[in-house]
Amino acid sequence: MLNLFSKNIGIYLKNYKQYSTKMSLNLAKKIAAYKAVDEWVKDKTAIGIGSGSTVVFAVQRLAERVHNDNLKVVCVPTSFQARQLIIENDLELSDLDRNPILDIAIDGADEVDCDKTLIKGGGGCLLQEKIVASCAEKLIIVADYTKDSKKLGQQYKKGIPIEVVPMAYIPIQKKIAKMFGGELKLRMAVVKAGPCVTDNGNFILDWIFDENTIYNWSSVNRELLLIPGVIETGLFIDMTEKVYFGMEDGSVKEKI
Ligand code: A5P
Repeated sequence: MLNLFSKNIGIYLKNYKQYSTKMSLNLAKKIAAYKAVDEWVKDKTAIGIGSGSTVVFAVQRLAERVHNDNLKVVCVPTSFQARQLIIENDLELSDLDRNPILDIAIDGADEVDCDKTLIKGGGGCLLQEKIVASCAEKLIIVADYTKDSKKLGQQYKKGIPIEVVPMAYIPIQKKIAKMFGGELKLRMAVVKAGPCVTDNGNFILDWIFDENTIYNWSSVNRELLLIPGVIETGLFIDMTEKVYFGMEDGSVKEKI
């Protein structure tokens, strides 16, 4: 009886800990996203809308500001998820045909190093995210405190996402492992059998690189992009204007 009681208490405490960590992360995402939107969004702005869980808060805040302050903004999505967010929040949906130059793009990141080099694509949307970011005058990143690192791989252990043409994924896996070491995992879908298929109909390889090697990310990125069948990488180098990290204590840390 006593054993059963202490087992139940243990499960309860574990669940509570997971719940409160999730709450604190969500709060951190929210304060970062709100601050970024408040600082960067003005009337008559063309905005790239990133993907992931932090961007959800940015879009909520954007919708509040647009509707309360009567701002005129147009939004270009970076994924199917972002498109849905724009529509659900009653914001004006646009595209790169109509708005090839954007004032800003607001997006999340999986990890940010001390040079503001990013790993993106944890949610599989890296290709359109990079295209939209490249069309924006300024890329603004919103993230929680777990994404703030000195060097890539310090906090984010799932590797660098690389979007590839499906028929080439095995030769690409072998080539990258030979060129740079590490392990390349084909990303599998969660509630569907088989691989994860991106919004663009491609596969994703997550490259678990060697943590002890010092990489020049710029040249690694260039070399990866030269491999036939590699469409885009989740390395975002020299693209970011400013990063907002929501911290555990309720403050927002900025990296310029
Ligand atoms: C989507 O593919 C990613 O690049 C996201 O921007 C990144 O994974 C951050 O997502 P969260 O805001 O959910 O952490």
